Amino acid sequence: MALYSEKVMDHFRNPRNVGVIEDADGVGEVGNAKCGDIMKIYLKINGGIITDVKFETFGCGSAIASSSIATELIKGKPVSEAMTLTNKAVAEALDGLPAYKMHCSVLAEEAIKAAILDYYEKNGIPYDEKDFPSFSCEHCD
Ligand code: FES
Repeated sequence: MALYSEKVMDHFRNPRNVGVIEDADGVGEVGNAKCGDIMKIYLKINGGIITDVKFETFGCGSAIASSSIATELIKGKPVSEAMTLTNKAVAEALDGLPAYKMHCSVLAEEAIKAAILDYYEKNGIPYDEKDFPSFSCEHCD
């Protein structure tokens, strides 16, 4: 069996929604300290709906494929739905990732949550810190 699914290879070779949104409503950047890979997600949000999403990923093929499919999964969806996207769902949408590459899909979940947190903070929208366990401290004074 091939190490990577066709879907992973497709999203790695032809990533969707690559780029920057200059006037983004929320931007999230996360990194993995071990491998050094970095993922940045830009969200455009209108009336609670994610109308556009772009990403920049400096990382491995699985991280690029994870970002690409994650943007497809949340585009056009309510912010509340994007909040529930797990790394497992990202990996499943890619028809699986090798076990030692699962952490790459975690970056996608975290980058989206970081971008949503940025959106909440910029707009004074109340949120539950428990929903952002790994990011709340980055924004502490
Ligand atoms: Fe770092 Fe994949 S090896 S995100």
